[in-house]
Amino acid sequence: MIIDIKSTGYQNDVSRVKLYTEGKKLKAHVMTFGCQQNEADSERARGILLDMGYELSDNYRECDIILVNTCAIREHAEMKALSMLGNFRAVKKNNPDLIVGVFGCMAAEPTVMEKIKKDFHYVSFTFEPNMLHMLPSLVLAALEKSKRTFVIGEDKGDIVEGSPVYRVGDFKAWVSIMYGCNNFCSYCIVPYVRGRERSRRSEDVLSECKELISNGVKEITLLGQNVNSYRSDISFAELLERIALIDGDFTVRFMTSHPKDVSEKLILVMKKYSGKIAPYFHLPLQSGSDSILKKMNRSYDRERFISVAKKLKTEIPGLALSTDVIIGFPGETEEDFEDTMNVLREIRFDMVYSFLYSKREGTKAASMTDFVEDSAKNDRMKKLLAEQDIISYEMNQPYVGNVCRVLVESVSKRGGGDTYTARTGSNKLVHFKSDKNSIGNFINVKIEKAGAFDLFATEINNI
Ligand code: 5AD
Ligand code: SF4
Repeated sequence: MIIDIKSTGYQNDVSRVKLYTEGKKLKAHVMTFGCQQNEADSERARGILLDMGYELSDNYRECDIILVNTCAIREHAEMKALSMLGNFRAVKKNNPDLIVGVFGCMAAEPTVMEKIKKDFHYVSFTFEPNMLHMLPSLVLAALEKSKRTFVIGEDKGDIVEGSPVYRVGDFKAWVSIMYGCNNFCSYCIVPYVRGRERSRRSEDVLSECKELISNGVKEITLLGQNVNSYRSDISFAELLERIALIDGDFTVRFMTSHPKDVSEKLILVMKKYSGKIAPYFHLPLQSGSDSILKKMNRSYDRERFISVAKKLKTEIPGLALSTDVIIGFPGETEEDFEDTMNVLREIRFDMVYSFLYSKREGTKAASMTDFVEDSAKNDRMKKLLAEQDIISYEMNQPYVGNVCRVLVESVSKRGGGDTYTARTGSNKLVHFKSDKNSIGNFINVKIEKAGAFDLFATEINNI
């Protein structure tokens, strides 16, 4: 069901929290681990905190409320979030009124919730994803009764529209269009923590995009765990087309796609609106071995994946393709890994994000016992990175000499203070000398040099 936030108890709770915050200059900090969906959720959390009368601060040590948005995709991400939570013990000591809240994917795991209940007494509340509208009521419970609340198993698959949002950037924006996942890949915890797939109404997405563009946003990224499985009154391809038809100078991107949902229509739309839709596609492979793909429950085989990837590359001019690969899934042999390497060699992705398999309790793969030794996993990772670096380097060379239209994002981390970083439509990072007025604008640059991960350019003013 689609619910308007105004029809929940939200407004009433916000007003009651305001009685506590009014005139006190109370400060809040939101810390984010994980993916872009979490970044987008954190922007909503910040919007709600401002609504309740808190001021935002970058320094959590001086804050009256700290929210941690967590990621559960791999064990490492969970360890990082728990260790960060440990740091708040000292902050609580200095400020006994401190409220600490945990949300995001870890907050939907019963074992994590129990651990937080037991070992982190200063955590006032946790709530699973999709429950952001409850934030004011949880803060209120902490303020009024010093009561600890743990919201888990309450997500009924609704979408709550109309939540306030505080966007970090003014020229780039995330727009979530669907939530959750129905695919149950056997290694993945997402369907358990983010629930089943649900899509926003197309008119809500379109009016959000129109408003952003009229406010000067230059790049919109549509988000969803399986963004191209979006389904409402219209399909994902139709939604993308309607966004591309909005007047204005902007680019639209999307992530993450599932290979099974790459439709003919989507390819046609990307081709037809190539000026507006970024020529970039993230298409997760996970493994190139048919037997592993089957055990992963990925619903395609190697041949089907290769044909989708090749079709995208041949049909959409200038398209850059990236992928995700899991190394060391239970039962993965050297031959299976070679199958993966052969797909990377055949497709020649611009970028590969590779992850060591991490066992997630509650998933189907967690009960598989044919583990791969850490040493074998690490060797395979090294081999993949070394070969892919060469492929990425080679994929970037044809850019040298070209003029590209790029969106300037920030001061560069490489080079001196007058070096800036931009992104091409194909999602490549470009560094060049410019001045700070270029940030947030599309400019033309000439690519002079290309490495495996970055391009180096000079700004061109008149073409
Ligand atoms: N172990 C390692 N990598 C994983 N991913 C998802 N679940 C796991 C896991 N249990 C990877 C997949 C996915 C990316 C976001 O994270 O490659 O595409
Ligand atoms: Fe996880 Fe698979 Fe769903 Fe992606 S499609 S979120 S990998 S279950």
